[in-house]
Amino acid sequence: MRSIAVINQKGGVGKTTTTVNVAAALAESGQRVLVIDMDPQAHATLHMGIELAPGEASIYEVLCGKMSLVEATRKVEEHLSCAGSHIDLAAAEMELSNVEGRDLILRNRLQEVADEYDFVIIDCPPSLGVLTINALAAVDEVILPMQPHFLALHGLSKLLQTIHLVAQQLNPSLQLMGVAFCMFDSGTRLAAEVSRDVEQFFDQSRGQQVPWAEAKVFASRIRRNIRLAEAPSFGRSIFNYAPESNGAVDYRQMAAELLEDRLGDGSRARLAA
Ligand SMILES: Nc1ncnc2c1ncn2[C@@H]1O[C@H](COP(=O)(O)OP(=O)(O)OP(=O)(O)O)[C@@H](O)[C@H]1O
Ligand SMILES: [Mg+2]
Repeated sequence: MRSIAVINQKGGVGKTTTTVNVAAALAESGQRVLVIDMDPQAHATLHMGIELAPGEASIYEVLCGKMSLVEATRKVEEHLSCAGSHIDLAAAEMELSNVEGRDLILRNRLQEVADEYDFVIIDCPPSLGVLTINALAAVDEVILPMQPHFLALHGLSKLLQTIHLVAQQLNPSLQLMGVAFCMFDSGTRLAAEVSRDVEQFFDQSRGQQVPWAEAKVFASRIRRNIRLAEAPSFGRSIFNYAPESNGAVDYRQMAAELLEDRLGDGSRARLAA
């Protein structure tokens, strides 16, 4: 099973859109996929057509030890399942603050389902609190969605520092797979400059003992596409909502890139070790 966290502490950069649509594209190509919604906003859950009432089985109960991950998981469609979230999850941050081993709860729960799925993709909230740390401790790979803005790199160092800390203290196999540019306006000079800056940064990190030593910028750029913004309110992925749209084309391509990476340099290095 490959496990991927989609993180960025900056809000509205495309984390949820990327989680849900990459998951749907992978499921469409026959991969068994589980989406875990670790965001109390529950946007990924809603995007997948699920609305949980208070007290209904959600990832909150799993983190509080009241329920197994299997019990909190619902089938969405062929090959695609979701462990949903609820606003209750906002309380988990405080409730877990005195629990010993709180950062490893999701990691332990995930082991229950390792044989059931080919991919688990975790949507994270726009913060670096206990929910995001649980996700980072549980996965092997990180995707970092970013908007190609002038300020996109602002905050990147804090994010990388967090990934580094989690890798050192909780999860030595954690690697940053790469940056996914979302809401990309191709043809603008700014977009090209920002993506070049990020590529250069990663090139300078090759060979260093950091979790982003093998990171890349996804070749698939997710173009700004109104269909992607409309799909969530119908509780459908872009492939059910507008299968011919640019959004569907771009996310299908990103999923294909992910599949190609199955034995990318990182995994080979780890397998050889
Ligand atoms: N490529 C795109 N084209 C047009 N709209 C998009 C695109 N990607 C995302 N959006 C829209 O932009 C908004 C923010 O996207 P999204 O919810 O995926 O970001 P997020 O990083 O998950 O936000 P948050 O930090 O609040 O969880 C949403 O309304 C979404 O529908
Ligand atoms: Mg989100």
